[in-house]
Amino acid sequence: MTALSVSTSSAASLRADALVIGVAKGPKGIVPAPGAEAVNEAFEGKLAEVLTTLGATGAEGEAVKVPSPAGLKAALVLAVGLGEAAEDGYGLEALRRAAGVAARTLAGTKKAALALPAESADEVEAVALGGLLGSYAFGTYKADGNGKEPVGELVVLAPRKGSKDAKAAVERAVAVGEEMNRARDLVNTAPNDLNPKSFAAIAQAAGKEHGLKVEVLDEKALTKGGFGGLLGVGGGSANPPRLVKVAYTHPKAKATLAFVGKGITYDSGGISLKPAGHNETMKCDMAGAAAVFAAVVAAKRLGLAVNVTGWLALAENMPSGTATRPGDVLRMYGGKTVEVLNTDAEGRLVLADAIVRAGEENPDVIVDVATLTGAMVMALGNRTFGVMSNNDELRETLHAIAGEAGEQSWPMPLPADLRKGMTESTIADLSNMGERMGGGLVAGLFLKEFVAEGATWAHLDIAGPAFHEGAPFGYTPKGGTASAVRTLVRYAEQTAAAKA
Ligand code: BES
Ligand code: MN
Ligand code: ZN
Repeated sequence: MTALSVSTSSAASLRADALVIGVAKGPKGIVPAPGAEAVNEAFEGKLAEVLTTLGATGAEGEAVKVPSPAGLKAALVLAVGLGEAAEDGYGLEALRRAAGVAARTLAGTKKAALALPAESADEVEAVALGGLLGSYAFGTYKADGNGKEPVGELVVLAPRKGSKDAKAAVERAVAVGEEMNRARDLVNTAPNDLNPKSFAAIAQAAGKEHGLKVEVLDEKALTKGGFGGLLGVGGGSANPPRLVKVAYTHPKAKATLAFVGKGITYDSGGISLKPAGHNETMKCDMAGAAAVFAAVVAAKRLGLAVNVTGWLALAENMPSGTATRPGDVLRMYGGKTVEVLNTDAEGRLVLADAIVRAGEENPDVIVDVATLTGAMVMALGNRTFGVMSNNDELRETLHAIAGEAGEQSWPMPLPADLRKGMTESTIADLSNMGERMGGGLVAGLFLKEFVAEGATWAHLDIAGPAFHEGAPFGYTPKGGTASAVRTLVRYAEQTAAAKA
């Protein structure tokens, strides 16, 4: 794993293989960003000219390498684009992305120094987090460990004033970044290796390492408890379901948050089998559970003064002679009955059980995270998750928090008229399908049925952003992205601060 540190050394004097600077797009051409002063001096003030000659424009995503002139200890200068030049500082997301581009470009390098704009602690944190996320590589199955080694060491250069804050900022970035990379590893692990049982075992081991309380309900305990949703979805698989509870408590906590994650370790669709072309990436269907687990561990590592309970609803959705049939009726945890009309609408079934169970402990807020519907991807695209809630303020808060943390989201409604379609089963309380139009909202309305009376709940549908299939960009690699982790962590931070 890439080591991260902060230094108040000057950019010119730090010994490293590469020195990273930021450049932006100004009205009259390329503009070196704060942090690049020493490099510009070493180029005798001609840095912009040199980079322009090499074709640089300062656009976001751009990375241009130049051999260092005399006067710099690093052999190489890497200029990364920050987009439009800004008078009043660059946005944190631009810094994260630029640092991510630098880390990806420098894979194979031993040590790199990041001389990007880093005046404030927030900026230092953004540069550090982007660097750590951009260094991510998943090498488990490749003979050569997935090509070049990730950059070995990243040093964030920060000004001398506020160096204590800078150190704390880097520590925060390391906690969040490492946990995001843990979530990415879980998502990227092949579904023949990650099943409900092995996921639960990983959660137990990591929970023990970090001093968290982890409880696992296996198929026997689930049967005894009457968890019909988890058992119905997991019934077709040779790998039985699990419900994992991960608890972080703080002695000074004044609030308790429950995070519930969809953990379908593989979604074949079940008897309502998905056609080829729709199942190749369905190992990502546990990304909600991965995000929840990572967020709870991060909350612990950050020592937040709030209680956070994670619920991982783990099952493998497979077709077989023991699988749930379209037409079957499941008795869910808590007693409601559901007619399963389509076994591919399985996420809402495992979540329903977990939401009811989470509600029994009377948390202040429940937030579930799920790769729930293709309809949400249709609505919002591949990079934005939908936020639904039975509480307008919570929905707006989560949307705002996501943006601050660098995650794209959008508030979505839960229109009452869409409920009707799910209540027309002639034999059960509900069916797991409703109107086709607005399918992402229908799924949200289904979950709402399982939220305890008076409880505050939100639902994040991350089906779009959870798994990235295009070319890497910024700090986002191909595969698992750790979508929603930062939003959950920031929400826990904000709750801790508000109640302090
Ligand atoms: N896991 C899928 C949703 C999904 C789609 C996740 C694309 C990631 C990318 C979910 O279980 C599913 O199959 N949903 C169905 C629901 C339908 C049958 C009501 C869908 O969206 O088509
Ligand atoms: Mn499905
Ligand atoms: Zn699914």
